[in-house]
Amino acid sequence: MTDPTPVPYAGPERVLSGVQPTGDLHLGNYLGALVKFVAMQERMQCLYCVVDLHAITQWQDPKALISQTREIAAAYIAAGVDPKKAIIFPQSAVPEHTELAWIFQCVARLGWLDRMTQFKEKTGKHKERASVGLYTYPVLQAADILVYQATHVPVGEDQRQHLELTRDIAQKFNHDFEAPNFFPLPQAMVEGPGARIMSLRDGTAKMSKSDPSDASRITLTDDADAIAGKIRKAKTDPEPLPSDEEGLKGRPEAENLVGIFAALSGQTRAQILATYAGQGFGQSFKPDLANLLVEKLGPVSGEMRRLLADPSQIDAILADGAQQARAIAAPVVAQTKKLVGFWGA
Ligand code: TYM
Repeated sequence: MTDPTPVPYAGPERVLSGVQPTGDLHLGNYLGALVKFVAMQERMQCLYCVVDLHAITQWQDPKALISQTREIAAAYIAAGVDPKKAIIFPQSAVPEHTELAWIFQCVARLGWLDRMTQFKEKTGKHKERASVGLYTYPVLQAADILVYQATHVPVGEDQRQHLELTRDIAQKFNHDFEAPNFFPLPQAMVEGPGARIMSLRDGTAKMSKSDPSDASRITLTDDADAIAGKIRKAKTDPEPLPSDEEGLKGRPEAENLVGIFAALSGQTRAQILATYAGQGFGQSFKPDLANLLVEKLGPVSGEMRRLLADPSQIDAILADGAQQARAIAAPVVAQTKKLVGFWGA
């Protein structure tokens, strides 16, 4: 399947990532993705797309899709992504993504897609009712990344398998078309304390937009009261907070809340535990965590509301971003078509 001695990619370093416009962003999206987007814009050229093509793999109301696309763009900016430094655009406005995705569908193997755990999780026992797009979703994701020859992809832990598939597709394309370093083998940037934020109701399940319980997640639209209420009710066990990280083992809810505190405050988990060791969760840990969440997320949601009050400003940023993105993607697709042997390429 893969060439054991890949030639290192010699092109420029570039970042690509995306978020689906399928509902309110939650704390997992913020810590697992947005915070990293902001950090990366100082280090290399960054492209951040709103992946509306991915969103329609499951039914989306057309009017809601447009407004949610603007909301995600507003969230990027409100979190600190600067449109003067990074390219922000809607995926569907750059047709090169779908063009490359078709070629990649002919490179990827069925067996590779059969192994994708997200498809299995999303469809459960009703695979036959899922759209074909949901099945080939990770191939489009590979095209999103490789159409910019991106080398770095900031994402949460749940995207690791899709990134491995992207690398496999890149490697097989380079091998099959005898273009040893045409596509880079992109690196998933999953490290950091926010890589896997869990549900507030179940420390073994990922915090997710699709969880039926609103109490399972903190969203960017929650106000201070909602945040305080959700943290107060967040599931914990009856034991007090431990004095060291070892004491978090086998206590997924405790581990998650301490992890969230660490990710938001910039402190280590050991430092947090040193402050609260021996106390019950409700004593001062949960109130302090709620305050910290309000302090960090409040300004982001306030800025989002301000930006969304004038959608023309967001639309101008998206249109400009799409143009800049196409300028990078078009020559890559042109070269890809030449390598494949398409007439006129
Ligand atoms: P999506 O829209 O589900 O999530 C957006 C980002 O949020 C991260 N994330 C989390 N991080 C930590 N803890 C959690 N509980 C949590 N939940 C979500 C995700 O890892 C992601 O980084 N397939 C992607 C979108 C996509 C993409 C791409 C990403 C399409 N093309 C190209 C990178 C590059 C997705 O569904 O993300």
